Amino acid sequence: MKRVLTIVTLILHSSLFTLHVLSAQTLQSPDGRLAMHFALNGEGRPTYRLELDGRAVIGTSGLGLELKREQAGRQETFDNTQHTEASTIDQKADLMTGFTVGAVDKTSFDETWQPVWGEESEIRNHYTEMAVRLHQTKNDRDILIRFRLFNDGLALRYEFPDQRNLTYFVIREEHTEFAMTGDHWAWWIPGDYDTQEYAYTKSRLSEIRSKLPAAITPNASQTPAGPTCVQTALQLKTDDGLYINLHEAACIDYATMHLDYNERTRTFESWLTPDCRGDKGYLQTPCQSPWRTIIVGRTGADILASRMTLNLNEPCRIEDTSWIRPTKYIGVWWEMITGRSQWAYTNDVTSVKLGQTDYNKVKPNGKHAANTAHVKEYIDFAAQHGFDAVLVEGWNEGWEDWFGHQKDLVFDFVTPYPDFDVKAIHQYAAQKGVKMIMHHETSSSARNYERHLDQAYQFMVDNGYPAVKSGYVGDIVPRGEHHYGQWMNNHYLYCIQKAAQYRIMVNAHEAVRPTGLCRTYPNMIGNESARGTEYEAFGGNTVEHTTILPFTRLIGGPMDYTPGIFEMDCSKLSPTNDSKVRSTLARQLALYVTMYSPLQMAADLPENYERFPDAFQFIKDVPVDWQRSLYLEAEPGEVVTIARQDKHSRDWYVGSTVGQGGHDTALSLSFLEPGRTYEATIYQDGKDADWEKNPQSYVIWKKKVTAKTRLKLHSASGGGFAISIK
Ligand code: NOJ
Ligand code: CA
Repeated sequence: MKRVLTIVTLILHSSLFTLHVLSAQTLQSPDGRLAMHFALNGEGRPTYRLELDGRAVIGTSGLGLELKREQAGRQETFDNTQHTEASTIDQKADLMTGFTVGAVDKTSFDETWQPVWGEESEIRNHYTEMAVRLHQTKNDRDILIRFRLFNDGLALRYEFPDQRNLTYFVIREEHTEFAMTGDHWAWWIPGDYDTQEYAYTKSRLSEIRSKLPAAITPNASQTPAGPTCVQTALQLKTDDGLYINLHEAACIDYATMHLDYNERTRTFESWLTPDCRGDKGYLQTPCQSPWRTIIVGRTGADILASRMTLNLNEPCRIEDTSWIRPTKYIGVWWEMITGRSQWAYTNDVTSVKLGQTDYNKVKPNGKHAANTAHVKEYIDFAAQHGFDAVLVEGWNEGWEDWFGHQKDLVFDFVTPYPDFDVKAIHQYAAQKGVKMIMHHETSSSARNYERHLDQAYQFMVDNGYPAVKSGYVGDIVPRGEHHYGQWMNNHYLYCIQKAAQYRIMVNAHEAVRPTGLCRTYPNMIGNESARGTEYEAFGGNTVEHTTILPFTRLIGGPMDYTPGIFEMDCSKLSPTNDSKVRSTLARQLALYVTMYSPLQMAADLPENYERFPDAFQFIKDVPVDWQRSLYLEAEPGEVVTIARQDKHSRDWYVGSTVGQGGHDTALSLSFLEPGRTYEATIYQDGKDADWEKNPQSYVIWKKKVTAKTRLKLHSASGGGFAISIK
C-alpha cells in the first residue's frame, strides 16, 4: 500500500489579537483548482464557500445545528412544518452563532487502497484537510468542523468533543446550507422519510416547489418530508456546464439528510429525518455527523468517476474478507413480481398461524413458486449456465398476511412452508456447486427481526446460504419510526455487523440509501433504495431512469437493480398484468456494465433466456468485479456509456444505456492495450428496435478490434448496447 501522510499543523490559539485573522481561512485541493473559504459571519456563525478555478460553485453558506432545549421534566414539542429562521433560534440551544475560532489544523493525505470488490482494484484517496475548532462563549461549548478538499469535491462534517457543557444532546435540526449560484438544472426525487422508490424529475431549481406535490403519489408507506425537500444524492448542472452532486458519506448513528430548497435565498438546507417524537437525533459526545459532500465535475463523467463517498468512509473493519464474493445470481422472484406465481402458500389467510398451521387442513393456492421441485429447476439452470447462486423468495411461513399485519403474522425466518424442503435443497445445491441466497422480508417489523436475527443467521449458516436479501416493505414497527431515521439507520448497520460475525453478505431492499459504508463493511454487497426493475412490472420505469441512477442512487454504493429482462410484455407471464418493460433487450444487457454492483441478478425466467441463447451469452460472460472503469459518455437523462476491465483477466466490457429518442455513440477503443488484437462481440439494438414498438429487435456481430478501432453505434429510443472484448 502506497501511503504518504503529511501533517502541517497550524495550531493558533485564539486571543483577541488573532481573532480576526483566524476567522477567515482558505483550503486548496491537492491540484490547487478547488478552493474552500471558511469564515465566521457578523453573528459569529461559521460559513464556507467553494470555488473552482476562481469561479463560485457554492456561494457563502451557513453551518451549524440547533439543539432541543431540555426543560425541567419535559421537552418541547417539535414543529414539523417549517424550518426555524436563524433569528428565532433559541440562544441557549443553538450551535449556530456566537462562535470564535480556536485551533486550525491543516493536513494533507494521500493513500491508495484496495477495495475487497469494486469498480476498480485500486482507489486513490487524496485530499487536503482543515479542522476548525470553534468556541461558543455564550454557552461555553466547543465544536469542530472538519473540511476535506479532494480534486473532485468538498466534504465537511461536525465533530462534538466530550465536554462539560455538551454531553447528551438532542438535535432539533441541522442547518447546513448549500447556496446555489444560479437556477441550475436538477435531477431529483421528492423528500420522503420512508422511500426512494420514485421516478426522477428534471427541472430548474425554481420549479421544484411547483412540481413536488404532483410527484408524490400518496401511499401508506410514503411519508413526505418538509415543504420543499428533495432527496440525495442530488445531481445538479449549471448553465455553464458544471456538474455538482450533493450527498452524504458515512451516515452512522445519525438521521438521513434531505435537502430543503429555499427559493428566496436560492439555498438548500439540510433537513434531517425525525424520529417518532419529531426529534432528529440523540447524540452523546464524543461524536460526529456524517460527511456532507459536494462532488464537482467539469463533465458528467467526473461525477461518475469520483470515489469521494467511499474515501470518506473508514477502512475495512472485517479482517478476513475471503468469504465475501461478488455474486451473479438467478432467482424465484420475477414470476411473483409479475403476478404469474405467488409468495404465499394459500390464499386463505384465516387458516394459517405462524409455526402452528396444520397444513393438511389448508387449501394451497397452487401458485406457490418456492416449492422444492421448482427450486431444483432453478438450481439446475444456475449450474448449467455458470451462475453462482439462486435466490428463493416466499419459502417461509407468513406471506399470507405479510403486508399490513392484520393478523400480526410476522415472520420468524426459520419456518419453511411444507412444500419447501430446506435440507433437500441444501444438499441438491451443494452437489451442483450452487449457493443459495436467503430471503428475509421483515415487513418493516424491525424489532421482531432483531429478536430473531441470531437464530435466522445461524439457520443460514447451517443450510448453505452465504448471502441474504432482506426487505423492509411497509411502515416501520415500532410505529412512528421512519426508514431513514437514526433508529433505523442503526438497525441496518446492526444487521450488517451481526451478519459479518456469521460470514454473511447482505443485500437490503427498502433500507436507507447508501453512503459508502460498504468500504468499511464490504459484506454489504447491495441495496435497493430506489426504483429497481420491479417497477417495470408495476407500470414501468421512465425510459431515462437508468441514465440518471448512476448520478444519484449509485453515488452512495451499489444497487441490486436486477436487470436482464428479455420478455418486455408482462402479460405474457401473467395475463392480467399489462405492464411493459420500458427498455430494449440490448439495453438490458448494457445494465450489467452501467449499473455497477458486485451482486448482479439475471432477473427473467429461465424459459425466456432459453428463447434468446445468443443474447443470454453476454449475461453469462459479464464479470461482477472490475480492475478499471472508464466513463465514456455521461449525461443524466440522455446517455451513460462505461467501459470496464475484468478484475481477473485482460478482457473489457462496454455498456451503454440511453434515454428517449435514441443516441449515436462514436466509440474509441483506445483504452485497449496497444498492439494487441481482441475479438469484440457487439450486442446492439436492431435497426427497427424501439423500447415501445419493438424491444426485442437486436443484432449480435463480431469484429477483430485494436486500440485504434473506432465504432459507430446507434442505440434506439430506450435502447443501448453491450460489448465484450476478449
Ligand atoms: C420488495 C422488494 O424490492 C422485492 O424485490 C421483493 O420481492 C418484495 N419486496 C418482497 O419482499
Ligand atoms: Ca422495493
